[in-house]
Amino acid sequence: MSKPVILTGIRANNSLHIGNYFGALLPMVDMAQNKADEYQINLFIPDLHSLTADLDYANFQSVILNNLKMYVSAGLPLNKADVYIYRQSFIPAHSELTILLNSFIGMGELSRMTQYKEKSAKFHEDRIPVSLFSYPVLMAADILAYGASYIPVGDDQTQHLEFTRDVAIRINNLFGDIFVVPRPVKQQHALFMKDQGLRIKDLVDPSKKMSKSSESDKGTIFLNDKPEDAYTKIMASTTDSLGVINYDKASQPGISNLLEILSLVSKEPLDQIISSYQGQTSYGEFKKIVAAEVRDFLMKFQSSFDKIDEAEIYDKLKLSEIVMNQQANKTVYRLQKALGLRS
Ligand code: ADP
Ligand code: TRP
Repeated sequence: MSKPVILTGIRANNSLHIGNYFGALLPMVDMAQNKADEYQINLFIPDLHSLTADLDYANFQSVILNNLKMYVSAGLPLNKADVYIYRQSFIPAHSELTILLNSFIGMGELSRMTQYKEKSAKFHEDRIPVSLFSYPVLMAADILAYGASYIPVGDDQTQHLEFTRDVAIRINNLFGDIFVVPRPVKQQHALFMKDQGLRIKDLVDPSKKMSKSSESDKGTIFLNDKPEDAYTKIMASTTDSLGVINYDKASQPGISNLLEILSLVSKEPLDQIISSYQGQTSYGEFKKIVAAEVRDFLMKFQSSFDKIDEAEIYDKLKLSEIVMNQQANKTVYRLQKALGLRS
């Protein structure tokens, strides 16, 4: 019996922030470190999906490499047999499967996708990229090609996961057992303990989550920020006029966010941090402590980033991509046979 597959794609970005790091990257690294005996772990860069948005083509290769280096700096093990890292465009089966699935998917269901509605709104109708429209089909192919059961993604992707399940069930009803149907999304959340839902807030407007798409970068700590700049951002963060430190997300969101950040970067449990600082009245002194810890955290992270051996990453990619091609081709072949394209 093959192991259940946990699979996720992370779009390569210019930089990740500490919200992505603690909320998405570390949980995934943790799975790769601790769950590879029980599960096959597929972690890939959906580089074809990136073509659906504005992209600096000339720099794209270095952005991808930088992201992979960040994963490794965060602790992603490269020496584990059942942990695979790969690039979507290096596995042609994803594209092939997309074309095959297209005949079993309706325009209506794709046009109802929230992400499509939001992202297509800025285009003249004649110029909405078809790739934006068919984004969920490629995503379904990414998942179904490997028979993945668990797919950790942000909440904005839930609709695409439900769609993937629908497509798998639809094809299986027509042709028998072609695809492994991913687990219902709620069961997936249980595996990743998603209900703990970490949400680091924006430093300037702590009513919003920290995000790379905020208008200003003053509220966001990026992993490649200069440590001194990060220090300054924490010192300038928005607090409140109550003047006493308390962990109360509703009435003191700024201070509560700083307490959480301190706990994450210093690796001390949150209740311990809260009991150390609760009741203190100097926000300035408290901010200095948080700012210094964030600065140290970034210095360590960046120093490990600078030491990453790129050749090791490429070796791992090559090995993984060989295995992934074999696995995904098998799935495509099953469907091709069912469709009468192969005998
Ligand atoms: P962004 O808003 O920065 O574009 P994404 O929506 O691309 O982030 O999310 C990528 C991953 O990072 C998701 O798994 C998401 O849950 C996680 N994530 C994003 N922002 C935060 C945050 N502020 N705190 C915790 N996790 C976050
Ligand atoms: N659409 C996902 C996002 O924007 C990235 C992605 C592409 C993905 N293919 C996937 C995630 C397959 C999980 C599984 O975050």
